[in-house]
Amino acid sequence: MKALILVGGFGTRLRPLTLSVPKPLVDFGNKPMILHQIEALKDVGVTEVVLAINYQPEVMLSFLKDFESKLGIKITCSQETEPLGTAGPLALARDKLIDGSGEPFFVLNSDVISEYPFGELIKFHKTHGGEATIMVTKVDEPSKYGVVVMEEETGKVERFVEKPKIFVGNKINAGIYLLNPSVLDRIELKPTSIEKEVFPRIAADQKLYAMVLPGFWMDIGQPKDYITGLRLYLDSLKKKSPSKLASGLHIVGNVLVHESAVIGEGCLIGPDVAIGPGCVVEPGVRLSRCTVMRGVRIKKHACVSSSIIGWHSTVGQWTRIENMTILGEDVHVGDEIYSNGGVVLPHKEIKSSILKPEIVM
Ligand code: GDD
Ligand code: MG
Repeated sequence: MKALILVGGFGTRLRPLTLSVPKPLVDFGNKPMILHQIEALKDVGVTEVVLAINYQPEVMLSFLKDFESKLGIKITCSQETEPLGTAGPLALARDKLIDGSGEPFFVLNSDVISEYPFGELIKFHKTHGGEATIMVTKVDEPSKYGVVVMEEETGKVERFVEKPKIFVGNKINAGIYLLNPSVLDRIELKPTSIEKEVFPRIAADQKLYAMVLPGFWMDIGQPKDYITGLRLYLDSLKKKSPSKLASGLHIVGNVLVHESAVIGEGCLIGPDVAIGPGCVVEPGVRLSRCTVMRGVRIKKHACVSSSIIGWHSTVGQWTRIENMTILGEDVHVGDEIYSNGGVVLPHKEIKSSILKPEIVM
């Protein structure tokens, strides 16, 4: 089977992290977002993943060539010269997706995290006579997403409304699809939205089905959701493979610590923290609900909560970082600084406190 991952888009909502790498390569739970997806696809027998790219293709390609051999799966690129939206890229990659077997193929949004129950999706798809299956999940704020109205018993989709202004329902498109090759006959090679132009038409032909996604789900394309997503992800890891989580007197709740990270004496870490490769956490540090990416140093007695610390940054001693502070790559925060929701662009030095949420350029 084949899969296409939509990796275009500029990832503006996840700046400043996406100023350093394309969104799918931003680390989540200590590995690039997209690797979670590629690994899960491989597990259900996908042999080739096509990346639909329109932004920083060189970076993506050189990174993924490495993983192609490590994971033993073919990874190819389909590069747009202009952004083709969420459906156009399927038309562009048509020849890669159709292999004559008539088998359906997966399509994924690159910024969604879940347990990826692809096996269940394949099973469900085979039970109905439709052309396409989309996974749906319930959320509190459906207006940010594509909303799906479906027949409870059969899963047949009656309506698909992208980002509705008025309440339509609370089941939303999770950005995970299994499509028959015939869907490609519905898509022209031009900028097209699968949500606005393709799904509503398949639904009108009564050929679109939805399956409620078991387990957790989150679109981690914005900082607040990224931090919530980490909590859900670690929670699921705790249930599925608890040995991957850290344990010890200094750990509270679910914490992921890379084996090469060093944690000093008297720290208190957790809940819901990911500490990446090569990080140094000095003695007496307090971390909660945060991601600390590769190569970061957190100095003595610093406190970080509800924040993301980008690659190779440093946090000074007795510094306090909180309330959705996002440090880009290689940011250096001095000693005894306070950051309340600062969003700091890469390669900056912070010498005075950031008292209210703002962007530091
Ligand atoms: N190749 C390519 N070209 N990819 C693109 C383009 C493009 O022009 N535009 C967007 N993408 C990719 C994004 O990188 C992302 O992986 C996916 O398409 C969806 O785009 P987002 O910008 O993240 O959309 P959204 O989050 O507002 O809404 C989508 O996702 C929701 C679930 O998270 C929609 O599919 C909604 O219906 C859905 O509920
Ligand atoms: Mg998104």
